[in-house]
Amino acid sequence: MIRKAVLPVAGLGTRMLPVTKVIPKELLPLLNRPVIEYVVDEIIDSGFDSLIFVISYGKEAILDYFDVDLGLKSFLRDRKKEVLLSLIEEVEDKIRYLSSIRQKIPQGLGHAVLMAERLVGNEPFAVVLGDDLVDSDVPCLKQMTETYTVLSAKTQGHSVIALEEVAWEDVSKYGIIEGEKIEDDLILIKRVVEKPPLEEAPSNLSIIGRYLFEPVIFDFLKKIPKISGEYQLTDAIQAMIDDGYPVYGYIFQGKRLDTGNLKGFFEATLHYAMKDSSLREVLRNFCSKLL
Ligand code: UTP
Repeated sequence: MIRKAVLPVAGLGTRMLPVTKVIPKELLPLLNRPVIEYVVDEIIDSGFDSLIFVISYGKEAILDYFDVDLGLKSFLRDRKKEVLLSLIEEVEDKIRYLSSIRQKIPQGLGHAVLMAERLVGNEPFAVVLGDDLVDSDVPCLKQMTETYTVLSAKTQGHSVIALEEVAWEDVSKYGIIEGEKIEDDLILIKRVVEKPPLEEAPSNLSIIGRYLFEPVIFDFLKKIPKISGEYQLTDAIQAMIDDGYPVYGYIFQGKRLDTGNLKGFFEATLHYAMKDSSLREVLRNFCSKLL
């Protein structure tokens, strides 16, 4: 049973500047909810109850969003705004155990995950990127924990990483894996290559922001070198593989939406608008007038 999920949200979000100068990219609204809420919903719906946010200066509002606002609640209660009150309470009740730690200086995703070591303790845990969404019938993390549990019967010290098949011409934008197919949706990873040129890419399977780790990952995060000012999570994963720890790639069912860049964020907005019956009409009418 994996209960804890680490959400590193301490990055600067430079690809979404200038808005990220004052609003964390995780709080940008996809319709009337912040991006991070979609991610938190997936985590909670996958059976996790403890969420550990790795934050930095200016990111406190992410925690506040899920905290209880007594003033707002009494304001709404006094004015008998019951519908709005239940909307607020639904968000406040989502996370049972919410904790946070600060990464004071951004030193890469690997460093951010390492910051959570004490809060995670000695148990397996998930790492979930707060700008990477997966819309699916079965939550992506649930698909992964089920795979992890099945693998636990055969192996130990293993990790499971979500993989997405991307267009070959896009491989140089992603972390790409090389591995041995175990089942249709399961690969035993041998190598992770960051942003390879097309001609050197070993596959078109890209790592997305969903990982299940054993706590041994922290030992490797402490050993890897800092490159260009950053500790990369993928370097620790490669070091773990090289040391004989099995790392599996799981090709999840669902649609991945990367909201960390403008095009991806816009696509995610359209995706969720099309899922809402009233907004779908607005979008259709708007587009029909353009043609
Ligand atoms: P990104 O590569 O998306 O970086 O990090 P970023 O800084 O957020 O955004 P850009 O590239 O400048 O636009 C992947 C994830 O790792 C977190 C980010 O918050 C994001 O969720 N991260 C990255 C940290 O928590 N700390 C870091 O030092 C770096």
